[in-house]
Amino acid sequence: PYMREVSGVKVLEDRLREKLKLESVIVVPGDSDESEWVKEEMGKACVTYLQSISGPGQTLAVTGGTTMASVASRMTPSAGMEDWLFVPARGGLGERVEHQANTICVEMAKKAMGNYRLLYVPDPISEESYQNIIEEPSVKDVLGIIRSSDIVIHGLGDALTMANRRKTPDDQLAVIKERQAVGEAFGYYFSQSGEVVHKVRTVGLQLEDLEGDREVIAVAGGSSKADAISSYFQPGKSSVLITDEGAAKELMRDT
Ligand code: BG6
Repeated sequence: PYMREVSGVKVLEDRLREKLKLESVIVVPGDSDESEWVKEEMGKACVTYLQSISGPGQTLAVTGGTTMASVASRMTPSAGMEDWLFVPARGGLGERVEHQANTICVEMAKKAMGNYRLLYVPDPISEESYQNIIEEPSVKDVLGIIRSSDIVIHGLGDALTMANRRKTPDDQLAVIKERQAVGEAFGYYFSQSGEVVHKVRTVGLQLEDLEGDREVIAVAGGSSKADAISSYFQPGKSSVLITDEGAAKELMRDT
């Protein structure tokens, strides 16, 4: 029965890769909405994938969230990764400390026996402070590393779940609802057709940085994230998706 399960997942991977027009899709069995261990399995799959592409001297930027925390918890040392530099992709974005990019970045770097640099900035931030802070030499230095990172790994969330989790101010929450955001990544909120309808101002990686020659890996699962995943991939911003069967089946439902 296990083999049958595995081959079913393989078919889902191929169909999803075609549908979302991605380089590579990995689907782990189960639904992380229902069982917490499925998130751990996505974490493990992501670590295995990273190890398969590990060359010397890479810089990896990572976002926050519980899915990225499970990638960190599964990280192990691997040949070729010991001189990697880990950086947070963006600021804290209102996450609790254990799920902030800085925290996850340190854990990943330590477990991979690599190095890290962190971002110390208030978050979110006013336009005026933003302009000043990005000129601070210590911040500027880390921002440069982040924006030129070789690999980006990030989570994806349901728009309203993320807006509520971040305690988004009422006026912004109204915009997110009114403009019918369904997905969220890096503090950007996307409509069903993939349009950016709202953005949290914070330092770090910007959506336009994802273009160009770098490996961008999204890790997100659970059937409740299917719409979020499809909204984010409308214009296709990442090259790899690591997900679970719950989300994959939901994404393929109408085809
Ligand atoms: C946040 C990221 O920290 O994690 C978001 O900034 C992402 O872009 C979210 O949507 C995902 O969280 P989780 O807990 O569902 O993995």
